[in-house]
Amino acid sequence: MRSEKLHFALQACEEGGVDFDDVAALLMATDEDGGAIRAGAEEVLLRYCGSKVRFRGLVEFSNVCRCDCFYCGIRAGNREVQRYTLGREEIVEAALWCAEQGYGSVVLQSGERRDEEFIRLTESCVREIKERSRSARLPRGVGITLCVGEQTRETYARFFAAGAHRYLLRIETTSPELFAKIHPPRQSLESRIQCLRDLRETGFQVGTGVMIGLPGQTAADLARDILFFREMDMDMIGMGPFIAHRQTPLGKQIKDDPEGKRRILDLSLRMIAVTRLVLRDVNIAATTALQAMHPLGREMGLRHGANVIMPQATPVRVRRNYQPYEGKPCMDESVTQCRGCLVERIKGLGRELSADDWGDSAHAICRINRKI
Ligand code: 5AD
Repeated sequence: MRSEKLHFALQACEEGGVDFDDVAALLMATDEDGGAIRAGAEEVLLRYCGSKVRFRGLVEFSNVCRCDCFYCGIRAGNREVQRYTLGREEIVEAALWCAEQGYGSVVLQSGERRDEEFIRLTESCVREIKERSRSARLPRGVGITLCVGEQTRETYARFFAAGAHRYLLRIETTSPELFAKIHPPRQSLESRIQCLRDLRETGFQVGTGVMIGLPGQTAADLARDILFFREMDMDMIGMGPFIAHRQTPLGKQIKDDPEGKRRILDLSLRMIAVTRLVLRDVNIAATTALQAMHPLGREMGLRHGANVIMPQATPVRVRRNYQPYEGKPCMDESVTQCRGCLVERIKGLGRELSADDWGDSAHAICRINRKI
């Protein structure tokens, strides 16, 4: 039996008038009610975004990072990581391979650096990938999403001018107390929020996201995260479970707990479903971290309202060195194997694969059309 509270919360989603209490009720609903929430999210996905799953080839081009986030395996303070930065040719080749596969879009991701050498490398890769990926199949070239952290407005403008059109910057959590607990004092929530505003003003389609299951995080925090996504008018959401990494201050405190892991996986899937119900027409990624929690984690994400998947396109030679969390899957599979595996998984769900398409979110397309 559905509770009355849940019934009203689902109705509020349908009418577009969701408030904090509704979001919290959906997040905290029992497993029994979870089925209705999942089915509702799938229905909203199909209605607003269609059944196509969008691929973005993921190129993790450098693990050098100036940040020292307490949860992240590639934090500056982790001396056990072998650092790498791919050369321009290798980055461009990896992205062009994605375009040839029909991925339509790539994500260039790296640790955060703000020096001119890094900015120039990123900028020149974007420019060259754009130029060399133009073809009859992709007249505008491959779509490029950047995920290279907090930068100045000027840098964002340079990346946009070079041809990147989407940018992902996770907020990690919107709770000021929790943010302060998991980051060193020189990293601030305010500056992240300002970056999200700068990115939008620069012209990017903007995505953000949070980690789920952080120590001390509450359902109320997560409800506020979803309302923040809506308030900031985000186009894309990428979020996943927090997974301890032993070489980090936060990971050291956490004991292995299979029961807890299961709870965090369920909560992550619930977050995807509720985000879909509240935001409706955005793109939501079924992140790799979901698969680190469960072999079918990404399929589960797709069934809870996600519509984006990021197949690995990072050269195998460096992939092991890019591990923000432990147990990251797809470490040794070739890029071709990663493609084949995901294609099969998606077909198995009865969903279609989108090819040769940037796959912008319906939300971004509506916003851009409103302006014209
Ligand atoms: N568990 C899950 N996700 C993590 N990330 C970093 N460390 C972890 C972790 N231990 C995510 C963060 C970051 C992205 C690069 O990876 O959300 O933005």
